Amino acid sequence: MKRVGILTSGGDCQGLNAAIRGLGKALYQAFGKDIEIYGIEDGYRGLIEGNYHKMKESEFSGILNLGGTILGTSRQPFKLMRVVDENSGDKVQNMKDNYRKMGLDCLAILGGNGTHKTANLLSQEGLHVVTMPKTIDNDIWGTDITFGFQSAVDVAANVLDSIHTTATSHGRVFIVEIMGHKVGWLTLHAGIAGSADAILLPEIPYSIDSISKVIEQRSKAGKRFSIIAVAEGALSKKEAKMSKKELKAARAAEPYPSVAYRLAKQLEDATGHEIRVAVPGHIQRGGSPCPFDRVLSTRFGAAAARLIREKKYGYMVAMRNNVIVPVPLSEVAGKLKTVPLDLDIIQTARDIGVSFGDE
Ligand code: F6P
Repeated sequence: MKRVGILTSGGDCQGLNAAIRGLGKALYQAFGKDIEIYGIEDGYRGLIEGNYHKMKESEFSGILNLGGTILGTSRQPFKLMRVVDENSGDKVQNMKDNYRKMGLDCLAILGGNGTHKTANLLSQEGLHVVTMPKTIDNDIWGTDITFGFQSAVDVAANVLDSIHTTATSHGRVFIVEIMGHKVGWLTLHAGIAGSADAILLPEIPYSIDSISKVIEQRSKAGKRFSIIAVAEGALSKKEAKMSKKELKAARAAEPYPSVAYRLAKQLEDATGHEIRVAVPGHIQRGGSPCPFDRVLSTRFGAAAARLIREKKYGYMVAMRNNVIVPVPLSEVAGKLKTVPLDLDIIQTARDIGVSFGDE
């Protein structure tokens, strides 16, 4: 009998259920009646606290296009994993004990950056682990793309499309704040797909003068509106020079709930234009995965099952040049995939006159 545990950890995204389904179906195909799959609830928390159930084959059906995760998820910060506390005791030891209690041959983990640090830790502690890269941020090192990203691009681009019509009617400037944590992948792709006039990324610090110029030039050219796509992690040129601690203190002293609101105030003062803010927030992670993500998640799920069949543990399944390959967890953990400044898509955007707020 082969026993596999599955858990989804960290922020959810579209395509988690599709990947669970891909893995489950491929395992049933490979092992038939000789497979038992345990669904571990709410991410690492379920593994720490021993909340899991033996899944039925039917649970893997009818979930391809279902958003969220049927297993539930939670955020369990990596930096606290080694901290023994009153509530959860020795978390790492508990996870190892529950893995053994279930009699697992392998643990399949679906998660983002923080999740991969803990996955690597568990692998180093001797558990058999395979992982799948999920996040709307697309910031996992070692894979060209994560599932959830493309669906979130669709949502954010649709928001930018909708904002265009109202911005045109009123002759307004709109700032749309897009998720992505500390990287700009989502804002870059959504910004281009949603024809933003300025795209502000954490990787390219902006100046208010430069963005004001864009608004003024468009206005002079008779264009009634301007749309700015700003990543939630975008930094001004001044902020980019600050240490982490200084940045935290500077942000805490500001009266704005997020970067978009501060930009709106600064640009209103600088240009005199009426400016509105739209923050789609968690809507970007919600709803059905787009067809691209359904295919990608299925490929990742089936590839993870292949690794389990081959007893190849300690790997993340990754996409490189449209081919699925295993990447050692030790190479993935602790690294962030930021947008490279020489990326051709950035040049493409500049070529068609999109500003990155840096000139
Ligand atoms: O990592 C995915 C993500 O949606 C980021 O884009 C965002 O910064 C963060 O999660 C939000 O986290 P939470 O759901 O905990 O508010």
